[in-house]
Amino acid sequence: MPVKYPKQPRKDYECITVETDREGITWMTFNRPEKRNAMNPTLHSEMAQAMLEHETHPETKVIVLTGAGNSWSAGMDLKEYFRETDGDAQAQFRSYTDNRRWSWDSLVRGRKPVIAMVNGYCFGGAFIPLCNCDLAIAADDAIFGLSEINWGIVPGGVVSKVLVDTLRIRDAMYYAVTGRPFNGKKAAEMGLVNFSVPAKKLRAETVALARELMSKSPMVLAYTKQAIRQVRTMDMEQAYDYLIAKITALEAKDPERTRERGMREFLDKKSFKPGLGAVARPGKKATPKAAVKRVPKKKKK
Ligand code: ACO
Repeated sequence: MPVKYPKQPRKDYECITVETDREGITWMTFNRPEKRNAMNPTLHSEMAQAMLEHETHPETKVIVLTGAGNSWSAGMDLKEYFRETDGDAQAQFRSYTDNRRWSWDSLVRGRKPVIAMVNGYCFGGAFIPLCNCDLAIAADDAIFGLSEINWGIVPGGVVSKVLVDTLRIRDAMYYAVTGRPFNGKKAAEMGLVNFSVPAKKLRAETVALARELMSKSPMVLAYTKQAIRQVRTMDMEQAYDYLIAKITALEAKDPERTRERGMREFLDKKSFKPGLGAVARPGKKATPKAAVKRVPKKKKK
């Protein structure tokens, strides 16, 4: 008997909310504002389910992770994730595994792009999903911190690892050993997030980025994010070989035949400039012209 997966994703969560809008953006919101969205075992279990369901749900095109209230997430719930599972090997294994399932397995291996929209406090364990999201935008006044040192643990659950994979070693070390908080602007300067914007523009900028991603062929986008992640740990020869195989697989599998259309539209029909924007997807309007200034042509003497 084939497995029957539910057609519609679950909606009735306790610690998160999940909504897909008409454009295909799925908004996953950590929803424990009274606890600054600290991640407890229930939140991890719910996120594991939501990520899996939306990764495979056709209506979801882009996922945005954000937080209710004034926090993105204050990290692991010290009471429910740590203290209450100390000495309970079964509970600890289950909650640690749920955490791993969504905040690194799903985020790193998923095909759909995920944007972290960091609206406020972001501490400790929250750096795992933050760094594993494909892209991140923060409010200028969001507050980040590796507070583990302040309460007596090493940044674990792979925080230290994602940190040094994302930041320069000087910055990773400085913030890990001091536990000093820093704001969204500083996070952008260090490359922890792609950019930061005033809080009142955060949602609009995130939607604009999500729309830009949705204008690309979904399979080309998925393969591209996989390629960027995978080559990081390869040497030059391995990367060359892997990328040839990846390109060949994409050419065979892309249902939108993007490569063929892209060349035809540029070389024969001259309908778009690949350097300045994406070829229109089948049945969709061309993407709005990128706000890129063209380099002026040199006048012939
Ligand atoms: N774990 C458990 N409960 C938390 C957490 C957390 N990480 N963060 C906040 N809470 C709870 C508080 O205990 C408090 O609960 P109560 O109302 O029952 O007393 C409630 O959320 C509100 O927190 P306040 O501290 O009162 O909120 P405030 O706005 O003054 O401060 C701040 C917010 C700065 C985020 C503060 O709560 C804080 O420092 N939290 C801990 C951050 C942290 O170090 N996280 C752990 C990182 S290490 C790791 O994740 C492995």
